[in-house]
Amino acid sequence: MVTVSAPGKLMLMGEHAVVYGEPCLVTAVNQRLSVTIDASDNGQITIDAPQVKETKFVDRAIVKFFAEKGSFLKNRGIALAIHSDFDCRVGFGSSSAVSVATLKALSLYYNLTLTDREIFNLAYQVTLDIQGIGSGFDIAAATYGGTLFFTKGGATIAPLRVSVPLVVGYTGIKADTPTLIRQVEKLHKTYPDKVNRIFAAIGKLVREGKEALLRQDWERLGKLMDFDQEYLRDLGVSTQKLEDLISAAKRAGAYGAKLSGAGGGDCMIALATSDKQKVIRKAIKDAGGEVIDVSTRAAGVRVDPS
Ligand code: PMV
Repeated sequence: MVTVSAPGKLMLMGEHAVVYGEPCLVTAVNQRLSVTIDASDNGQITIDAPQVKETKFVDRAIVKFFAEKGSFLKNRGIALAIHSDFDCRVGFGSSSAVSVATLKALSLYYNLTLTDREIFNLAYQVTLDIQGIGSGFDIAAATYGGTLFFTKGGATIAPLRVSVPLVVGYTGIKADTPTLIRQVEKLHKTYPDKVNRIFAAIGKLVREGKEALLRQDWERLGKLMDFDQEYLRDLGVSTQKLEDLISAAKRAGAYGAKLSGAGGGDCMIALATSDKQKVIRKAIKDAGGEVIDVSTRAAGVRVDPS
């Protein structure tokens, strides 16, 4: 029997523009999703995932694994059990975490080596097979963990050895990432010059953000996050609820605040050192948000003690 877990993630800066070739900043969070594989005597592959709505990412990861490593392995029955610390609705990346953890668990169960790069590549193909679109930033966070400077398809995956002090507010609304990506795609097709300028400007903010992050210059990073949020608003992916939580966090003293991920709901993040976090948490709750406790720069996919 083997149990493997992968972390959830939060996009710090650069969402949407990353799909068009600009870099982004992502951090892995300490809420994790685990996959346990045990032998099953009925010769079948079974999946027990009571917290997950559908198992298409697990199914696809299994298919990819056997296609890569030899379908003769399928002759033995296995039972997969999936458990998550986080609700799949909050936008922490349950699909990427489950794909990565499934691939790693299968490789260990069958005593086969899969490097982190192979896991990233296979899990990214799983995302593309199912969603048809996406940068793979969430797969990188689940695989490598830490805080990363990332470009599409994993062309750059650079670890930045810094934790980011954040307060996370959940809007209570589940966003559908592929729908929002398509919405931005449509805007891009209709107004290519304007939207290309926005993407380039976001990319510039991310590069500056990386430097500020490495210096732990929270004041500057917060300001850059605020500018990023203005562009995301221009792209039409922010919502009133996100704006309410963001303004509340800023009024309560956050260095900066923005939506995290595709927008349309899910979570916002506020950059704030621990002395300010208590009042920001309260402000987010008073504005109707649910605060989720996380720490950042969590470890990537790993074996859990059984
Ligand atoms: O909604 P999330 O947390 O999966 O973030 C999506 C971020 C996008 O840049 C919009 C898409 C992507 O794959 O990078």
